[in-house]
Amino acid sequence: MTNKTLIIGASGGIGRAIVKRYADNGDEVIAVSRSGATDDSWPNTVTAKAMTEHNETNIAAFVDELKSQGTTLNNVVITTGVLQNDELGVKPEKRLEDMNESALTSYFAVNSIIPALWLKYLVNVMDKNHSTVVCLSARVGSISDNGFGGWYGYRASKAALNMLVKTASIEYKRRVKNAMLVCYHPGTVDTGLSKPFQKNVAAKKLFTPEFTADQLFTHVSKLDRDQICHFIDWDGEVVTW
Ligand SMILES: NC(=O)c1ccc[n+]([C@@H]2O[C@H](COP(=O)([O-])OP(=O)(O)OC[C@H]3O[C@@H](n4cnc5c(N)ncnc54)[C@H](OP(=O)(O)O)[C@@H]3O)[C@@H](O)[C@H]2O)c1
Repeated sequence: MTNKTLIIGASGGIGRAIVKRYADNGDEVIAVSRSGATDDSWPNTVTAKAMTEHNETNIAAFVDELKSQGTTLNNVVITTGVLQNDELGVKPEKRLEDMNESALTSYFAVNSIIPALWLKYLVNVMDKNHSTVVCLSARVGSISDNGFGGWYGYRASKAALNMLVKTASIEYKRRVKNAMLVCYHPGTVDTGLSKPFQKNVAAKKLFTPEFTADQLFTHVSKLDRDQICHFIDWDGEVVTW
């Protein structure tokens, strides 16, 4: 049976490569992005879909349509995230005084709430025999690993994402049976998101999106499925919550 895979945030640096990686595995991939753009590297088994705004109405309608078509999903990867964005007025904070209400709201909206809404609706279309949901998190969202401080909004919204995923995994286990949820730290990846923060990153620690997609695919497939929720990094190592 061909796996059915949904990638959310498919036109992002990492998302685009993840679509290709799952499609190269032979999966039928639905690639959702705000633009609905396709990529020349994707095979024709990929279906691109546009969702200009990831609000509850649009997410619910999208999942309803999958349900009415009888589609069940084996894999979902949610890549949605923001770190710095001039339009949103979002920039990692260096000190308490840098925090502001609007930027914090944007961080939580993109990094925590959009994935949460997807988790809410997708539970109804996940395959009961074997399904995996991966959310792109970040090591800085680990509460126990926070030795440096700063980046209040990004850290807190990724920590909130981790808690949402962990909490949802308990309900997914009950409702979907063989479901496993994963929070994934990809390392520093050469994309638009990390561009402003790459200058102190050693060349060998700045990963290509293709390497990142391959690592994610490989490590997720090896995880112990008796454990319903994992937080791992690009090397397959456990990240502490
Ligand atoms: N790059 C890194 O070094 C790094 C490190 C740690 C964690 N991560 C995480 O990895 C994920 C992917 O990052 P990336 O490096 O690929 O960054 P990117 O190229 O900037 O992609 C960001 C993704 O977020 C989506 N997105 C942003 N704002 C959105 C909004 N308002 N509504 C809906 N979707 C929105 C975009 O969706 P569209 O496809 O619709 O444009 C895009 O897929 C993020 O969650 C990020 O936090 C990245």
